[in-house]
Amino acid sequence: MITDKFRRPFRDLRISVTDRCNFRCTYCMPAEIYGERYQFLPKSQLLTFEEIERLTRVFTGLGASKVRLTGGEPLVRNDVEHLVERLARVDGVDDLTMTTNAYLLPQKAQALREAGLGRVTVSLDTLDDEIFRHMNGRGFGVDRVLEGIEAAERVGFHPIKVNSVVQRGVNDHTIVDLARYFRERGHIMRFIEYMDVGTLNGWRMDDVVPADEIVALIDAEMPLVPVESNYTGEVASRYRYADGEGEIGVIASVTKPFCGDCTRLRLSPEGQMFTCLFGSVGADLRGPLRDGATDEELASLAGGVWRVREDRYSEERSSLTEALRSREKVEMYKIGG
Ligand code: GTP
Ligand code: 5AD
Ligand code: SF4
Ligand code: SF4
Repeated sequence: MITDKFRRPFRDLRISVTDRCNFRCTYCMPAEIYGERYQFLPKSQLLTFEEIERLTRVFTGLGASKVRLTGGEPLVRNDVEHLVERLARVDGVDDLTMTTNAYLLPQKAQALREAGLGRVTVSLDTLDDEIFRHMNGRGFGVDRVLEGIEAAERVGFHPIKVNSVVQRGVNDHTIVDLARYFRERGHIMRFIEYMDVGTLNGWRMDDVVPADEIVALIDAEMPLVPVESNYTGEVASRYRYADGEGEIGVIASVTKPFCGDCTRLRLSPEGQMFTCLFGSVGADLRGPLRDGATDEELASLAGGVWRVREDRYSEERSSLTEALRSREKVEMYKIGG
């Protein structure tokens, strides 16, 4: 097992399989910037499934046991279920999951399940159609996402988690509806504090709705009781409903940062490894991989980067000057949140 400068082990591997997405969420890939002519990575620069599998074996050797596929939108990568099939067979991968916007789930859910995907988490910011059409930047309606979730349910994914990024004045008045709707369907709703990831979303602290406020809004209608984390380093704080079934989670990455237990490493579509969501430069693994490095050499390179890791951006945020906060940061859609 390897640990970083703050003795944090490496456990979670988050693999972004593409920088492309079929949505243009205003807080992630604003449509004005990512228009028709935006150049996404050419296929030759993306890690192949074989390369991703090989790196995953190297990473499990270093301690990773949870693997999450992200994007961009992972389901827009052709035949992503073939990658799932490869990763499901890797020794040491105990939990294989995917974060998706669900738009393509109606046609993909069955294949993903058969390929060995263990769980899915769906991003859905609101149930209000008009607000959702605006937030996803493409005018897509809520129905399509709900169909995706139902498809996931039908093929047997359980539990399903649903993530909503909460922005003040945008979707914060729809929180309780989301909580109620997914409680009734037996899914775990999670609310995420809006973060200053990347450089393009014009984040301001005023846009953040603190997790405590989110919990209070729901608690006023459906009383909540805090519950223990499922595991050390879980990003969501959990609550159950006092009067029966169901739970929610809140991810207080701004008001109560959880860097102290952060065991996450992110791999970008072109094979750069980032040790923080707010990193600016990644360590290139594709170069050595394609130049013939052995597994031992790749492990030594990746392990070396982890051992000197000192990232704790969310804990430092409030003491950083505006200039430091807005320094070059990798965009969310390249490392998947
Ligand atoms: P489970 O394995 O189901 O517990 O998933 P998870 O809690 O890791 O959840 P998920 O990957 O869905 O993460 C939810 C959200 O939390 C992400 O979309 C990010 O917005 C935020 N998040 C996850 N990891 C980090 C992190 O390392 N740092 C920060 N600041 N935010 C994170
Ligand atoms: N703040 C918080 N969460 C974000 N996500 C994307 N951008 C942000 C942000 N600025 C979330 C998405 C999705 C996951 C991949 O990351 O909504 O659930
Ligand atoms: Fe796509 Fe997810 Fe970014 Fe929205 S948040 S644009 S769905 S990658
Ligand atoms: Fe981990 Fe960086 Fe997020 Fe802190 S800000 S929890 S170090 S990814």
